[in-house]
Amino acid sequence: MSSESGTPGLPAPPPTGTSALPAGTYDGDTVFVTGGGTGLGKAIAIEFARLGASIVVASRSSDHLAAGRAAIEAVGAEVEVVECDIRDAEAVGAAFDAAEDRFGLPRVLVNNAAANFPSPAEDLSPNAWRTVVDITLNGTFLVSREFARRHLAAGSPASIVNVGASYAWTGGPGFAHSAAAKAGVKNLVETLAVEWGPFGIQVNGLVPGLFPHEDMTDDIREGLEQAGGPMDGHADRQPALRVGERRELGWAATFLASPYARFISGHTLVVDGANWQRRTLANPPITTVRDQLGRGAFLLED
Ligand code: COA
Repeated sequence: MSSESGTPGLPAPPPTGTSALPAGTYDGDTVFVTGGGTGLGKAIAIEFARLGASIVVASRSSDHLAAGRAAIEAVGAEVEVVECDIRDAEAVGAAFDAAEDRFGLPRVLVNNAAANFPSPAEDLSPNAWRTVVDITLNGTFLVSREFARRHLAAGSPASIVNVGASYAWTGGPGFAHSAAAKAGVKNLVETLAVEWGPFGIQVNGLVPGLFPHEDMTDDIREGLEQAGGPMDGHADRQPALRVGERRELGWAATFLASPYARFISGHTLVVDGANWQRRTLANPPITTVRDQLGRGAFLLED
């Protein structure tokens, strides 16, 4: 991809199958990935697996668990899958019991599971709001808490990576529920890194930019396509003049939880080719979220 003026954009990354870290960096480690059966969670899990980690995939969906298992087995790593709704503290405890039974206590936790769909704020039902905040923010806390308590009791070092979103800083029109929840997740990174650092637990955040993948929910994909045409037509809308390759997110995650990043904690790393800082001298005309989503005028129901 290049711009109209011929500028090349950011170079393409090394090919699939290459790693940013030495082979075997995660030999003997287990990595627990929530929502690791699909999309970006799966991509992150694969990069840990390539570097020697055993993987535990936690998900509500048996289909997603099967997909996660297949992806990890395909790179030749050990994998355990556990059905778990991260909103349920007891289920989270049971998931860690299952992980420990199979591999011992995971050294790394990737809080990737989240809930999201676009909606004008005024159309969100109380339960829709609650559901997204409950999965994204409360679920992230419950899983982190369970993981940290086990490490504190064992006196073992550990690392947490929370998958975030750049609208944690900017707000996210059309995503009030998710943006507010992700702001909470980013804030937790900063609090928990300080609370748990003395016990050897790092806590960092990782924010993906646009990484098209086949598991994108239909409403998010359709929203992007409406705004910018087919997914591969989005490259020229990024300062990088390209979208992200999933392995680039995996490399960032594996670095953050690795021995080479031991002095990095409380940090949220954005992997988006600077897209979230993009500004123009003059803004395009405002289109309301209702119009962007093809909703008619807001009407109070009787
Ligand atoms: N638009 C508006 N409201 C929605 C919605 C949508 N697309 N999807 C769910 N809701 C509302 C439901 O109507 C319900 O509210 P109500 O009781 O007032 O009707 C509330 O949210 C809970 O929905 P429910 O389906 O019972 O919750 P759930 O626990 O099964 O899961 C999601 C809800 C959001 C997690 C679901 O949409 C989902 O699984 N999404 C795919 C995974 C995902 O979001 N990945 C993140 C991509 S960034």
